[in-house]
Amino acid sequence: MEKVIEESLQGTSLELAQKENNTKKLFIESYGCQMNFSDSEVVASILLDQGYNTTQNLEEADLVLVNTCSIRDKAEQTVRKRLEKYNKVKRSNPKMKVGVLGCMAERLKSKFLEEEKIVDLVVGPDAYKDIPNLLKEVEEGRDAINVILSKEETYGDVSPVRLMSNGVTAFVSITRGCDNMCTFCVVPFTRGRERSRDPQSILEEITDLYSRGFKEVTLLGQNVDSYLWYGGGLKKDYDKATDMQKATAVDFAQLLENCAIQFPKMRFRFSTSNPQDMHEEVLHVIAKYHNVCKYIHLPVQSGSTRILKEMNRQHTREEYMALVDKIRSIIPNCSISQDIIAGFPTETEQDHQDTLSLIEYVKYDFGFMFSYSERPGTLAARKLEDDIPEDVKQRRLQEIVDLQREIGLERTQRFIGETVEVLIEKTSKKSENEWSGRTSQNTVVVFPKENYKAGDFVLVKITNCTSATLIGEAVNYSEMHS
Ligand code: SAH
Ligand code: F3S
Repeated sequence: MEKVIEESLQGTSLELAQKENNTKKLFIESYGCQMNFSDSEVVASILLDQGYNTTQNLEEADLVLVNTCSIRDKAEQTVRKRLEKYNKVKRSNPKMKVGVLGCMAERLKSKFLEEEKIVDLVVGPDAYKDIPNLLKEVEEGRDAINVILSKEETYGDVSPVRLMSNGVTAFVSITRGCDNMCTFCVVPFTRGRERSRDPQSILEEITDLYSRGFKEVTLLGQNVDSYLWYGGGLKKDYDKATDMQKATAVDFAQLLENCAIQFPKMRFRFSTSNPQDMHEEVLHVIAKYHNVCKYIHLPVQSGSTRILKEMNRQHTREEYMALVDKIRSIIPNCSISQDIIAGFPTETEQDHQDTLSLIEYVKYDFGFMFSYSERPGTLAARKLEDDIPEDVKQRRLQEIVDLQREIGLERTQRFIGETVEVLIEKTSKKSENEWSGRTSQNTVVVFPKENYKAGDFVLVKITNCTSATLIGEAVNYSEMHS
């Protein structure tokens, strides 16, 4: 989620959760989606109260935790390599304990303790509050595991410490789990059924962020448009709710509107939107409020209706195109990004061409593109042979990436000559003297620092661009600036 997999962040260890009297040291690193990074902040917060401060130095850690991803085989292989590395360190520091968190923990369960002898602790995504108990087990010399998935857990009552933070943008999770059962996807198995978090606790977390100077919040979930709070419980059990619960239920459009109204000086983003659950009301909220960003991450996976059906996506190519048309008519300046999988089982050259022509039609601003990786236990793995040869998958993927790059450049170029509102996040990677921030449309902008500061909203006149970055000069603060 924001979405996904920012390559530069993969495997970063989290720093700076400190309490004065804490004596133990936690090294925690995260792989995969933004939800994992966000969960690691919850875990660090829980462990801060157990006497652990975080460290970035693996060698000095008493406890090493790795928050893992199962989405593709490659993600799992990366984690296995990290475990080998911890093993080496553990040889010189035998007191060090190692724990696996997240989706691989959930997928492999006790197998981890058997296969990877160095692992002391295995904790699934809904069991982080049990870590203090599990650590006691470990201290007493037993392996500890909790991979129970929950109907209720949203960690609404844990106030996450912000690790790796730029102090300007933050992620707030609003739903957990997923009920969609896309046939290629392991998430419903590793993260359980979909449930929503109490809006009150969401707004409290944002209030806290605002008071600490944060300016942008991304509401996070596997399927945010499906958000529905009716007093707790699984989304699928909404039918059983009382009339009273139904009358006072809060859906995603309402939640987003509440955020926009209560925090007029903050910007809001959200991720991820599942096409089938995106309703028109949300589009009107995005259009109506200046502080709701004009950007929708709208994974499509394939442009072929036949493949979409095999994937158990709940829409056709035409329905997706109609949704895009609606977005464009209600929010004319909206950016749209995709996730696409190349080489799903049975995909023909014609199906692939359908994907390319859909990219042409939608004109996505960005994309996250993958080749199909069969995941054990998913419906696709059980029912369909992984029959597209690796070289064909890679060639199709490359064609998709190339086309997306070309169209992305066109989309970036549309801003040249315009003046855009930018929230300054950090110093640009390329130059000490330049700021880097993003537009409402999520395009990165770099420009000379002058006297502006991180966290300022500024108007930037765009003069040039590379394929995904706008280059310009600030002209003034924007109205969002307080
Ligand atoms: N709804 C989620 C999707 C998580 S997975 C979200 O919030 O983003 C992110 C992306 O990984 C998916 O959209 C899909 O494009 C890709 N993906 C998932 N399973 C995959 C698999 N088995 N092989 C290749 N790509 C996969
Ligand atoms: Fe996975 Fe589909 Fe849910 S991609 S996370 S099952 S929407």
